[in-house]
Amino acid sequence: MKELGNTLGKVTGIITVVVVFVALVLIYLEDPEPVEYIRMTEDLKAQEENFRQQNKSCFILGASGETGKVLLKELLERNIFSKITLIGRRQLTFEGKEYENLVQEVVDFEKLDDHAAAFQGHDVGYCCLGTTRAKAGADGFVRVDHDYVLKSAELAKAGGVSQFHLQTSRGADKTSSFLYLKVKGQVEADVEALGFDRYAIYRPGVLLVERQESRSGEWLARKFFSALSAVCTTSMAIRVEAVAKAMVSNTVIKSEQKMEILENKAIAALAKPAEK
Ligand SMILES: NC(=O)c1ccc[n+]([C@@H]2O[C@H](COP(=O)([O-])OP(=O)(O)OC[C@H]3O[C@@H](n4cnc5c(N)ncnc54)[C@H](OP(=O)(O)O)[C@@H]3O)[C@@H](O)[C@H]2O)c1
Repeated sequence: MKELGNTLGKVTGIITVVVVFVALVLIYLEDPEPVEYIRMTEDLKAQEENFRQQNKSCFILGASGETGKVLLKELLERNIFSKITLIGRRQLTFEGKEYENLVQEVVDFEKLDDHAAAFQGHDVGYCCLGTTRAKAGADGFVRVDHDYVLKSAELAKAGGVSQFHLQTSRGADKTSSFLYLKVKGQVEADVEALGFDRYAIYRPGVLLVERQESRSGEWLARKFFSALSAVCTTSMAIRVEAVAKAMVSNTVIKSEQKMEILENKAIAALAKPAEK
């Protein structure tokens, strides 16, 4: 009995140490408070209306993906563009009247130069494209997450796009020794060099979404962060709906910055006013 008590005491001690350690790591990794974005969204409705009046058009890359499809829904609901074009590798089908006026451009990403026209005449471009190493292999991952994204951005710039919104990832860093973070950081930097009038990078943590396709590692992380998000706001995870809302709000707000990086917490702060 005494031995059982000792063992239980040890286990409780270890669990406490682990929990405190995880909490300290999470606090250390916290993003700075995004005060600036909270201020910029004060008159969001008026800014949205002003943007709407300008009859602008946009394209979305990755509209069939988890973030892209929620972004499309959000754009249709808030109706800030007079024309929305989806650029993707396959024709998508939608149910509902709101999807009727969409334009779709099916392109071969290996021959994007042949599809330059698809990228012409838009004001804003959104990119939620991406694959995984597990799905595409290391080379395939680089091809999609760097090469396709960069080539699309080049064509968009040449085609007259002034605002480019790119979804990358928390921890993106071109000097990282992790392929995923390195590629994300490299594509951020290469797109920046194109010199869009306005360029916004979104670096979400784990995306909280009920994904159709099964990715075991992501599933486990998502369950963990969903539970954590229920009790506190962290800079480690975010719902895809919040990413989409932040992208749309950020499109309409007036920003003095030519280039901006929105970490997970800034994305959450920017999304909030549109959630009301
Ligand atoms: N999942 C996360 O927790 C997480 C966290 C942080 C950042 N991110 C990043 O956020 C971005 C969006 O993530 P997500 O989970 O919303 O994406 P997703 O659901 O995996 O969708 C990816 C999109 O990219 C397209 N795509 C993939 N491979 C392609 C290829 N070879 N050629 C052309 N198109 C291709 C897909 O088109 P099809 O439908 O035709 O396949 C789809 O539209 C990605 O860059 C991802 O790395 C993800």
